[in-house]
Amino acid sequence: MTLADRRFDRSLEYLARARRVVPGASQTLSKGPGMFVEGAYPVFLQRGRGCRVWDVDGNEYVDYVMGLASVTLGYSYPPIDQAVARQLERGSIFSLPAPAEVEVSERLTRIIPCAEMARFLKTGSEANSAVVRVARAATGRDVIVFCGYSGWHDWYAVTTPRSKGIPKDFARYVVPFTYNDLSSLEAALEEHRGSVAAVLMEPVLLEAPRPGFLAGVKDMAHRHGALLIFDEIVSGFRWAAGGAQEYFGVVPDLAVFGKGMANGLPLAAVVGRRELMREFEEIFVSSTFGGDTLALAACLRDRRATRAAGAMHRLSRPSEDRRRSREAREPAAADEPVSSGDRTARRDFPLRRLQHVLLSLGGGRRRNALGLRRRAAGARRRAGRWADRRAPSR
Ligand SMILES: Cc1ncc(COP(=O)(O)O)c(C=O)c1O
Repeated sequence: MTLADRRFDRSLEYLARARRVVPGASQTLSKGPGMFVEGAYPVFLQRGRGCRVWDVDGNEYVDYVMGLASVTLGYSYPPIDQAVARQLERGSIFSLPAPAEVEVSERLTRIIPCAEMARFLKTGSEANSAVVRVARAATGRDVIVFCGYSGWHDWYAVTTPRSKGIPKDFARYVVPFTYNDLSSLEAALEEHRGSVAAVLMEPVLLEAPRPGFLAGVKDMAHRHGALLIFDEIVSGFRWAAGGAQEYFGVVPDLAVFGKGMANGLPLAAVVGRRELMREFEEIFVSSTFGGDTLALAACLRDRRATRAAGAMHRLSRPSEDRRRSREAREPAAADEPVSSGDRTARRDFPLRRLQHVLLSLGGGRRRNALGLRRRAAGARRRAGRWADRRAPSR
């Protein structure tokens, strides 16, 4: 079907209705119709299967955006759907904590280098607000030096062009620096010497980190008495199971994860060093839906499904970009284990990383390399079979 053949009648009908009752016609800025060419770009998607989606007019697309990068394994991925349906029969939210909160936390502490404890929220914005509060509480300082996007909450959104509605004073406590430019970080830290609680950054932006950049940021932050926080909302579970911190071998004090945790179900986490995470016992971060068992069930299943589908292996296969990024990795000790508290993470080639993931998922049980290779090959075959299954058109 060519663009000219596509009909958008129902889409435009919905759009007209949305404009009457939904401000911006979307809950998410980057999905809004203002972002796209009206009449040429799909407006309302109704269903998805694998990497394909269908809009309300029945047009079929390959979705390269995948729920803004929150859907890693594909839409309607059967193992996740079944896990969520099973949990739904038992109940979605309870009046006391659920065992899944413990199980997912334990899993994250095995997979993510900096994670010794975990707390769950629903969105990346929430997780960033929480981690900022932890950093301010732990250091007794107020300023956050940041790089990258951190969400829509006041502390950060005051720095964006959409700062209307936020007290202007908040801007005094948030200072940007430039990615891959240590001198801009040094300048920010110097200007606010003694007041910086944390350097909060996305470890990977559109470009890869230059050699020594991430290690330099960590060193500089610590020299100024500030914490290093990685926003791994996008990089988490992508560059490696343990995020960019595992891939590039620079372990922050705290980190936030979100997209990619539960194959599209809403789940975000703050993780980090135990003594910092204990600040949650003093500060006020509490949410009715933080322990939602559906997203946690998807997350638990996601890890197993990821293993089954070999998706992590395929995601970590070196593309040209990643090859270049790897060359840009910190030159020091490229293949040495990276210490992260009571466990170690290795930075090395994809199969070894997959093995590391499998070992983590297997609860620490040792498996020999041959067994792992066989399992990985089987997983790749199963992944191929699943990817070949096409959804029926409407
Ligand atoms: C790096 C990063 N941090 C934070 C967020 C905010 O997450 P959410 O939209 O779930 O609030 C996003 C969202 O795109 C993001 O890309």
